[in-house]
Amino acid sequence: MTDLASVDYFSDQDISQDPYEYYEYLRNQGPVFREPHHGVVAVTGYAEVMAAFKDHDSFSAVNAIGGPFPPLPFTPEGDDITAQIEAHRHLFPIFEHMVVMDPPEHERARSLLSRLLTPRRLKENEDFMWQLADSQLDQFIANGRCEFLSEYARPFATSAIIDLLGVPAEDRPEFLAALGAERPGGGTVGSLDGAAVGRDPLRYLDEKFAGYLAERRRSPREDVLSGMATAVYPDGSTPELLDVVKPATFLFAAGQETVTKLLSSAVQTLGDRPEFQPILRENPERIPNFIEEALRIQSPTKVDFRLARKTTTLGGIRIPAGTVLMLCLGAANRDPRKFEDPHEFRADRKNVREHIAFGRGIHTCAGAPLARVEGVVTVRRLLDRMCDITISEVDHGPVDDRRYSYEPTFLLRGLTALNIEFTATP
Ligand code: HEM
Repeated sequence: MTDLASVDYFSDQDISQDPYEYYEYLRNQGPVFREPHHGVVAVTGYAEVMAAFKDHDSFSAVNAIGGPFPPLPFTPEGDDITAQIEAHRHLFPIFEHMVVMDPPEHERARSLLSRLLTPRRLKENEDFMWQLADSQLDQFIANGRCEFLSEYARPFATSAIIDLLGVPAEDRPEFLAALGAERPGGGTVGSLDGAAVGRDPLRYLDEKFAGYLAERRRSPREDVLSGMATAVYPDGSTPELLDVVKPATFLFAAGQETVTKLLSSAVQTLGDRPEFQPILRENPERIPNFIEEALRIQSPTKVDFRLARKTTTLGGIRIPAGTVLMLCLGAANRDPRKFEDPHEFRADRKNVREHIAFGRGIHTCAGAPLARVEGVVTVRRLLDRMCDITISEVDHGPVDDRRYSYEPTFLLRGLTALNIEFTATP
């Protein structure tokens, strides 16, 4: 049995396979607790995570992705390190992306994105997704089985963003190939894990989008890319080209692997809890709640980080400026003070939409509406086109002794593979 007190959350392989027991251990030490290995303050309480998200004056997002890695590029001094953060900002991973920006730069970057994510564009994108789901399913439905991540979830999530951004049809195959989403077993790119950030997988996308947007600035057309290329800040000024390219390309980093993880955990539940299949097939209006519960119980972003810029308190605990905070979304979403019987998947949980799998506050996930639609479209089309969805016993073991393998990262929660079997609906 693992001695949880001695576990290093960031490197322990067993914990990456099942973090929930460790989160309970942390919670038992208190909703705000300094773990001993990296001096990171772990926040597991729902109310406390929420409070930290909303207090962007005390907590900077500059380290949102890497947390304690790499270590701070300066030694914090005094009770307000705002000036130190600003002086070293360019040394933090992916510093030019909005997720790690603080106001007022964050607000400016996000305003450009909101020009893209209009209700009309999202509706067009949803229409595309219904067709996309079917064409993806057409490729393997006759086989009666599939490896769901490589054959469906990953190419689906990637294609949804390619379409959202209005990538010209003739370039889409190249994008899918470059992003490793065009074939079973293809690699991944741009996931928000430390390794990917270190390899700068977004460079390909940056170059492609810089090309598109420069061309559209010269000669605008009636397309999504032209809308982005000509977007201006709320004060009417024109952004640098790169300042438009970054929010666009970041969508791949933010929305590919996270959605792949959501879709696969939802389908895993359909396979492991087959009683949900007829209920949702006959009552599709219940699918959105099912997706929310999937987000709550297996939050794809397990943890998110903040850096205390001012000495403050959280949950009654003193937090000195310079402290790295680990906001454990996967734990907060199972806080028994908030969610009754929190380790149980309940498709009809009343307060499920209060989960914080998409974060909260000024950085709340810009792609949440998209991710939700991706989940609903996928579950709906799967249930319409397949019956008797089961988990492959050859690959994952029998019902009472499943073997699932999860990505060995401290940041994200998701299966490495999901083999399912089914009968195609005649
Ligand atoms: C199930 C899928 C997803 C999950 C669980 C998820 C989770 C999150 C979380 C927790 C944050 C907040 C980060 C922070 O506060 O530090 C975030 C931010 C963000 N997400 Fe998502 N996300 C998902 C899908 C998407 C998709 C599909 C897109 C776009 C296509 C997207 C775009 C973004 C962007 C742009 C931000 C940064 C917002 C900002 O800094 O203002 N996400 N996401």
